[in-house]
Amino acid sequence: MFFLLTLLLFFFYTYICIGQNLNNNQLIPFIHETIATQPVRTDPDDPAIWIHPTQPELSLIIATDKIARIGGLYIFDLDGKILQHIENIDRPNNVDVEYGFKINETYSIDLVVLTERLQERLRIFSININQRQLYELTGQNTNVFIDSSDNHAAPMGLGLYKRIDDGKIYAIISRKSGPNHNYLGQYELIWNEQLIDLKFIRYFGDFQGEEIESIVVDDQLGFVYYSDESYGIRKYNVDPQTNQTEQISFINTTNLWQGDSEGLALYTTSDTNGYLIITDQIINGSIFHIYERQGTNSYIKSIKTRADKTDGIEVTSSSLNKNFPHGLLIVMNTIEKNFLLYDWRNIENELIIVQNNVRFR
Ligand SMILES: *[C@@H]1O[C@H](CO)[C@@H](O)[C@H](O)[C@H]1NC(C)=O
Ligand SMILES: *[C@@H]1O[C@H](CO)[C@@H](O)[C@H](O)[C@H]1NC(C)=O
Ligand SMILES: *[C@@H]1O[C@H](CO)[C@@H](O)[C@H](O)[C@H]1NC(C)=O
Ligand SMILES: *[C@@H]1O[C@H](CO)[C@@H](O)[C@H](O)[C@H]1NC(C)=O
Repeated sequence: MFFLLTLLLFFFYTYICIGQNLNNNQLIPFIHETIATQPVRTDPDDPAIWIHPTQPELSLIIATDKIARIGGLYIFDLDGKILQHIENIDRPNNVDVEYGFKINETYSIDLVVLTERLQERLRIFSININQRQLYELTGQNTNVFIDSSDNHAAPMGLGLYKRIDDGKIYAIISRKSGPNHNYLGQYELIWNEQLIDLKFIRYFGDFQGEEIESIVVDDQLGFVYYSDESYGIRKYNVDPQTNQTEQISFINTTNLWQGDSEGLALYTTSDTNGYLIITDQIINGSIFHIYERQGTNSYIKSIKTRADKTDGIEVTSSSLNKNFPHGLLIVMNTIEKNFLLYDWRNIENELIIVQNNVRFR
């Protein structure tokens, strides 16, 4: 009886703690990274992951380094070793990967797309699978926000969307500064004379905070999430064919978090379930808040790291190698100018503790 009571008290206490996690640093579990990549030259920003189609241990991490011309795009292997550095990009910002862009009836390629802020355009690459190197496919017509100027025309955040129905691929792009309505642009990627151009589709999305950078798309469920920094995370329908342009829901981050709400990523456990991860940007200790991917995106748990002032993050649930059998979380680390790779199993353990408590209740 006493034992049972103690157990009940323990779980009640844990339940209270979960409710207060967002505010109480002490209760947030600390997770160690498994790998730190080699440093980039100037100022790291945003990572993406490309999963090799047949040998997942040969997958690549692709990340931006922000200073114009001398930073660029870096390609790392899963041990964090630099395999390729593409220079001469005029202020690279965010990067994303999408699979299976159809160039004709029989042939498709994987894409790596990034925002080139000072040229007010996108740069588009594909991957040579045998050489594990990028090659460029940027067409003549990849400028964005062409009816605006200065910061309102300067692309920053980027998320790629592949529509399940017909395989069309779109880029959702945010800018350095913009209006309170229609802050984001959506463009379709079009194959044109062996290169890739953009076709403007629409503007959408409200804005209230400091700026909008991070964007993540849930291809299967048809949603886009973005960080309206220091304000909250907004969720919209991503498929323009639905004609649904109103905000679906909102995660309020005002006053609740220690830092800015930054990088977003989705860890999928099935076609419909998984986790939405949101970065709380903190000096020498960025925190990652984990929400449900499905339903109304309920809060589950937070984890703490040593990562410094993290902007961009990426996550995959693909089994990669012996270090990352359940996938990995990769986060930007300012002070060391690199990226930290976290074994998902360590995060999963923390999520299992919460889920067991909920079940017990
Ligand atoms: C499709 O494109 C690939 C790559 O350029 C080319 O090798 C192939 O011949 C093309 N197929 C058709 C049917 O045009
Ligand atoms: C969206 O609007 C277009 C143009 O008005 C219309 O043709 C289409 O049927 C609409 N789609 C839906 C799902 O309502
Ligand atoms: C977000 O939360 C803050 C602090 O609790 C509150 O003042 C603000 O009104 C909320 N914002 C929205 C849009 O609900
Ligand atoms: C952050 O950590 C580094 C060591 O990695 C240290 O040199 C620096 O002083 C720390 N900064 C703050 C503000 O604690």
